Amino acid sequence: MKHGMIMRMSADYSADIPELEKLYPDHIATVSKRHDHALDHVGASHAVIFSGMPKVAFLDDTQYPFIANPHFLSWVPLVAVPLSVIVYTPGAAPVLVYYQPHDYWHVVPGKPCGYWTESFDVRIVHTIADIAEHLPEEKDKCILIGEIGTNGPDFGIERINPTKALNMLHFARGIKTGYEIACMRLASRRGARGHIAAEAAFREGSSEFDIHRAYCGAVSHTDNELPYTNIIALNQHGAVLHYTNLDRRPPKEIHSLLIDAGARIRGYASDITRTYSFGDARFDELIDRMHDMQMRITGKIRAGVNFSELHVESHRMLAELLVEARLAVGSPDALLASGVTAAFFPHGLGHLIGVQVHDVGGHMMDESGAVLDPPSGHPFLRLTRTLTENMVLTIEPGLYAIDILLDNLRGTPAEHHVNWDAVEWLRPFGGIRIEDDVRVTADGCENLTRNAFASVDGNVST
Ligand code: GLY
Ligand code: MN
Ligand code: MN
Repeated sequence: MKHGMIMRMSADYSADIPELEKLYPDHIATVSKRHDHALDHVGASHAVIFSGMPKVAFLDDTQYPFIANPHFLSWVPLVAVPLSVIVYTPGAAPVLVYYQPHDYWHVVPGKPCGYWTESFDVRIVHTIADIAEHLPEEKDKCILIGEIGTNGPDFGIERINPTKALNMLHFARGIKTGYEIACMRLASRRGARGHIAAEAAFREGSSEFDIHRAYCGAVSHTDNELPYTNIIALNQHGAVLHYTNLDRRPPKEIHSLLIDAGARIRGYASDITRTYSFGDARFDELIDRMHDMQMRITGKIRAGVNFSELHVESHRMLAELLVEARLAVGSPDALLASGVTAAFFPHGLGHLIGVQVHDVGGHMMDESGAVLDPPSGHPFLRLTRTLTENMVLTIEPGLYAIDILLDNLRGTPAEHHVNWDAVEWLRPFGGIRIEDDVRVTADGCENLTRNAFASVDGNVST
């Protein structure tokens, strides 16, 4: 290390977790096999995987938060190391070309350490030009995976992000390794700690901004380390699906909190939503009904389930719930066909999750890249695959009073199915979403989120 340079030691990967250490070699073996298969299919001998370039704002010298190439992250837990490269050649240990610039303006990535380094031939470079020395000479036998173009070096490799190879890798990533599942269990626990702290802040009457601060403190993440921007929505803000404004003052009257917030471990995300009533018994009862419905949907998860069909079935269940809660009248068929359930629940039932919160490959029929479209009338469903063991996905039904969608029902046959007085009652509460992350098993699922809430004891060490 040069004198005067500060090295980064991120809490996210400087400390080893014995359980992860044990599982990591098998993970690397699986990721290697997936690359063997993809390279073979496209007639290439080496995969060169680029972590990414920092991005600078237009006419400015400020950088956007760095988000690493997810292909790079599925090899190594280096969420904050730009300009680094993995070179994988079947049969050889993967090479990690680790970029550690001499820079006294910024904190630079620290010396690679931890269990994962043993699976790599690590080569530290201090200039971008030095990366080239560690790349295969036969460039025509390489594929390059990463964001390249005006913003990134192509290292003289012409085959950049070949679709066939990427399709294979994306399809395979839908099934998680034991290591990935262990990371996601820990990410769920980390997120559950944040949710518990956020609920306590809500009960004390805090603003959205202060609930957010309580959450970030409990998970020990800065805003940029969160897997996605927290949704912390008091009252009617819960009806804005991606509400991210964070009012600095609490509203005069507090009715409800919808919090959609996750956490990361080694790059792997959790994605959790809970909704709370500030004391209104009728809204509390509606939340209980949604929990019950969400658990019944989760109870149907198992290998072999067609997720598009489950999404449509969840609309039928919501139709029954709307009738029981006196928000609507009519048969499930009528409420689905007239668009009533779609107005109250306008997003997908769930999505794959991994190093990306909305993990790739949700619409893939197979590794060829053939697409499974969402069912008609449900364009926002991100997962249409048949579930297989060790997929990890979210189950997140919702029920909201979204004026622009409900107003569209006026003057249509749906108008007479809606109890508009009840919608008026619901509006100040915004809406409800209950979101868990689950792992598919042969005959059911493991609910990472509910297990995490049950096991969290207030210790934030992981
Ligand atoms: N937090 C984003 C989502 O639930 O999909
Ligand atoms: Mn989600
Ligand atoms: Mn979410």
